[in-house]
Amino acid sequence: MSQSSAAPATEHNKSPEILSLIGDTPLVEVTQFDTGPCRLFLKLENQNPGGSIKDRIALSMIEAAEADGKLELGGTVIEATAGNTGLGLALVAGAKGYRVVLVIPDKMSQEKISHVRALGAEVRITRSDVTRGHPEYYQDVAAMLAEQIPGGFYVNQFGNPANPLAHERTTGPEIWEQMRHDVDAVVVGVGSGGTLTGLGRFFNRVKPRRGIEMVLADPTGSILYEYVKSGQLVESGSWAVEGIGEDFIPEIADMSLVTEAYEIDDADSFAAARELLRKEGIFGGSSTGTLLAGALRYCREQTKPKRVVTLVPDTGNKYLSKMYNNFWMAEQGFIHRPPHGDLSDLISHRYEAGEVITVGPDDSLLTAFKRMRDSDVSQLPVVDKSGRPIGIIDESDLLVKVHREPSHFNDPVSTAMTDQLETLPPDAKITDLLGVFDRGRVAIVMDGNKFLGLITRTDLLSYLRLHMPKSSTPPEREFV
Ligand SMILES: Cc1ncc(COP(=O)(O)O)c(C=O)c1O
Repeated sequence: MSQSSAAPATEHNKSPEILSLIGDTPLVEVTQFDTGPCRLFLKLENQNPGGSIKDRIALSMIEAAEADGKLELGGTVIEATAGNTGLGLALVAGAKGYRVVLVIPDKMSQEKISHVRALGAEVRITRSDVTRGHPEYYQDVAAMLAEQIPGGFYVNQFGNPANPLAHERTTGPEIWEQMRHDVDAVVVGVGSGGTLTGLGRFFNRVKPRRGIEMVLADPTGSILYEYVKSGQLVESGSWAVEGIGEDFIPEIADMSLVTEAYEIDDADSFAAARELLRKEGIFGGSSTGTLLAGALRYCREQTKPKRVVTLVPDTGNKYLSKMYNNFWMAEQGFIHRPPHGDLSDLISHRYEAGEVITVGPDDSLLTAFKRMRDSDVSQLPVVDKSGRPIGIIDESDLLVKVHREPSHFNDPVSTAMTDQLETLPPDAKITDLLGVFDRGRVAIVMDGNKFLGLITRTDLLSYLRLHMPKSSTPPEREFV
């Protein structure tokens, strides 16, 4: 980073104006769902400049550290996160001219890592398969870096009182005003616990003695639901919803504020978020689905009319390749196609439905290469005008042609493709597939003359993983 870009913006006595757009998010009523006797409202936190509710805490934690003298001119902001908190901090601290270092577990998606890097944050990758106390545990690495880097400030959203304070001072009062001081219940999720604690404190103050219910919507697999219901700390499982659910009780999470809790599984969360986009045009992330599903369950169980609020904590943009992608949903078992009971069940992209990326024999090798790159595959079926597969072209075929003379990228695909096809009928066996893979090929599934699609090693692995017994699936850690 150059000297001038590292210089805090406070030198100009002014932060970028975008920071003034954090908070004051709109609130809308849900009108296209069955809400029983209740009215349900959504606070659109996805409309913050960084795309999530975490912009609020990023601003609050940075400004608190500045006020306390923990963060000074030329200082470095350090946090363990690959989630929205990282984006919020990269935005806020970056805009204020601080250096930002984020410690990110290695399971996080490249998209998220690219996003924080684009905002100017430095990234240290660490292990995601180790727990608290291990020297490579992401929070321990961040704490250690803060000691090593002069002027380093470890944000620690899980233990930082400025996190709940952001919600107590901004999110809560905004909801209260927008609802015209008439609220019966608020439905929240818990990641760090900042939202729950901050909103709970605020609403207990404006309507004391639990006048406003604080309802927890928790992903199945998280320990929080059971803790609220029975006080027991159970072993955690895994869940795919991002940003909420925990395998421990965070320091700042005041679970005693929760008056009712619901457990929502991934399938219901994803279905609710997708339905919200289609029916109401609201583009939320996966946890939006958990909160909406929890809020709808609460609303429908009521016997008296109530005014209920929940949140859209982040934007759906980050979930386009997951929850909003039908192939990912099918691969993960969240969308079910009618099974045929044969090999065609392993085809992830069906030719007839226009889902297979193909190339024609007369297309150039450059076209083939670009299609492979764009769709992140290493081979393409070559299909003639009648829709019949006549060859396969892969990266090795391309290399053989162009490595000495790159101008051969202009040659037609037919000059480089393999025309020895490995075709299998739908009623072939998995062992037949293994034979094809052993020969280094992909299987082309043909029902007579009809091309159904390809099966690759990855397709077979995904299929087998999906059929792995749930009990033998190891828990996965959540990183917010
Ligand atoms: C994506 C996401 N991040 C963060 C949060 C808030 O979690 P916390 O304030 O407990 O960290 C939520 C809450 O609903 C969420 O859905």
